[in-house]
Amino acid sequence: MADEIILQTRGLTKEFKGFVAVNGVDLDVRRGTIHALIGPNGAGKTTCFNLLTHFLTPTSGQIVFNGREITGSPPAAIARMGMVRSFQISATFLLENVRIALHGKRGRSFDFWRSARTLSALDNRAEELLEAVGLAGFATTLAVELPYGRKRALEIATTLALDPEMMLLDEPTAGMAHDDVERITALIKKVAANRTVLMVEHNLSVVSTLSDHITVLARGEILAQGDYAAVSKHPDVIQAYLGAGHA
Ligand SMILES: Nc1ncnc2c1ncn2[C@@H]1O[C@H](COP(=O)(O)OP(=O)(O)OP(=O)(O)O)[C@@H](O)[C@H]1O
Ligand SMILES: [Mg+2]
Repeated sequence: MADEIILQTRGLTKEFKGFVAVNGVDLDVRRGTIHALIGPNGAGKTTCFNLLTHFLTPTSGQIVFNGREITGSPPAAIARMGMVRSFQISATFLLENVRIALHGKRGRSFDFWRSARTLSALDNRAEELLEAVGLAGFATTLAVELPYGRKRALEIATTLALDPEMMLLDEPTAGMAHDDVERITALIKKVAANRTVLMVEHNLSVVSTLSDHITVLARGEILAQGDYAAVSKHPDVIQAYLGAGHA
């Protein structure tokens, strides 16, 4: 049982000046699954995500990754343990973005005075990764010039460069046109083949296509859990979405 759970939280709580945004969340993410965190606006999804990736410090509660307590560990240390959130891309060439991420995986701090030579050794792997996310023809494109949907694919490529055991994706299809949503959905499925994925996602069609397991948050607490068929029929879930103005 313990071995099956890659990420676990117990009593995860975050207060902002007396307002409890995440309240006593006990999350169990099973190894090898795609797990979605959903819920109406203001449910605490982003806060929860930021706690898991240590962009926020919990008010109380524990986070355990692969049997080790990681509460309070710096994000870089957690990344080295194998849990990585999708990166914000930088405004440089695509190949450069992926190479820099690959360079990070080698466990050194960024020493830019010698990085040009070191980075060029990583070209082949970077090209492979761009190809894996459907960006093979874009290696010398500036990241800022990419269409929005392709930028999200690039973020996934830079994350894959670290070959994480577990990937956390924050609204991977947010703001995308239909074709891009389909492409990213297929990409997530592909990269999840040999790793665990936890994603916050608003698009319920993406959630239903991808998720093995879903946790529904509302007002900072877990409202329901299960597969899509189960949670979408759950009366409290229907009520929470209707109450928040969702259809
Ligand atoms: N830094 C902060 N200070 C104070 N309140 C905050 C802060 N961050 C979030 N909140 C509040 O916590 C609650 C949960 O916010 P959060 O962004 O986690 O929700 P969410 O589920 O991601 O919502 P959405 O679907 O709109 O992205 C909201 O009421 C929000 O206003
Ligand atoms: Mg959010």
